[in-house]
Amino acid sequence: MSRLSSVASEEERSIQDHFAERASSYGAGPSWVNDACSLRHVHDEWLRRRPGSLIDVGAGTGAATAFLQPQENSPLVVDCDVSLPMLRAVDRAQSQSGRRSVVADAEALPFSAGSFDMAICRQAFHYFGSPVTAAREVYRVLSAHSVFVVSQIVPFDEEPDLEWWTQLVRMRQPSRRHELSRDSICDVLRASGFVFLRTEEYLARSSLDGWLRRYDCPVRTQAGIRQHFASAPRSVAERRKFEFKSQDVEYTIRWVTVTGEKNL
Ligand SMILES: C[S@@+](CC[C@H](N)C(=O)[O-])C[C@H]1O[C@@H](n2cnc3c(N)ncnc32)[C@H](O)[C@@H]1O
Repeated sequence: MSRLSSVASEEERSIQDHFAERASSYGAGPSWVNDACSLRHVHDEWLRRRPGSLIDVGAGTGAATAFLQPQENSPLVVDCDVSLPMLRAVDRAQSQSGRRSVVADAEALPFSAGSFDMAICRQAFHYFGSPVTAAREVYRVLSAHSVFVVSQIVPFDEEPDLEWWTQLVRMRQPSRRHELSRDSICDVLRASGFVFLRTEEYLARSSLDGWLRRYDCPVRTQAGIRQHFASAPRSVAERRKFEFKSQDVEYTIRWVTVTGEKNL
C-alpha cells in the first residue's frame, strides 16, 4: 500500500481523525454504506463499459468497489483514500487480485494522465478541500471517453428542503467542508471538463436513531437534531415521509448519481 507524505491542514486532520476512529466499524450494521442500491447506477455503468481499470476516489473501506465484484473480469481496481486506517479495512476484507489500495489526496492523485478507464466517488466529495481540483485530477487520470460517476446523498432541489437538509447535516457532521446538491455536483463536473452529464436518482429509507448511533454525537447535538425533525416544515416531513416511531424517525434520503464523460 502506498503512503501519503504531505502535511495536512487542521481541517484535513480532523477529517482524518474522524475516519481513523470509525474505520474498524465503518461498514458494520445497516446503513447506506451497505446499501448496494445506492450504487445501482454505478454498477450499470460498470457493466455497460466493462473497464480495464477503475479508480474509486475517497474509497474508504472499499465498500463501493466491493459491490462491483471486480473479480468477475479481474480489471485493475484502485481504492484511493487519504485515510490509511480506512484503506487497511479494505485489505482485510478483500484480497482479490487486481485490487490495490493507495493512500492519496483526491486533489493530487499519484497517477499519470490517462491511467484509468472509469472513476467513481461515493459520499466523499463533500470532504475534499476543492471539489473542482479533485474532479480535474480525476479528469486528468482518466483515458479518453471514460466516465466519472459521482454518487452522493443530496437534498431535494427546492426550498425548504435544501435549507432544512443543509442545517441538519451541519449539526451532525460539522467536519464536512461542502454542502452539495445535484446542481452543484453537475457544476463541479462541468467546470472540470466533463461533458454529456447524466443524472439519476434513487430514494432510500433511513433511521434517525441508526444515523445517530453510527458514531459519537454529543447529547446536546442529538437533542437539537431531534428537535430539527420535530419542527421540520410540513412539506419536508411529507416529501421525506417522516414516520415517528417511539424515539426514532424514519425518513427518505435522496441519492443522486451524476455521470460525466471525458470527451477527448
Ligand atoms: C463517507 S466516507 C465514504 C467512503 C466510500 N466512498 C463509501 O462509499 O463507503 C468518505 C471518505 O472520503 C475520504 N476522504 C476525505 N477527504 C479526502 C481527500 N482529500 N482525498 C481522498 N479521500 C478523502 C475519507 O477518508 C473517507 O474514507
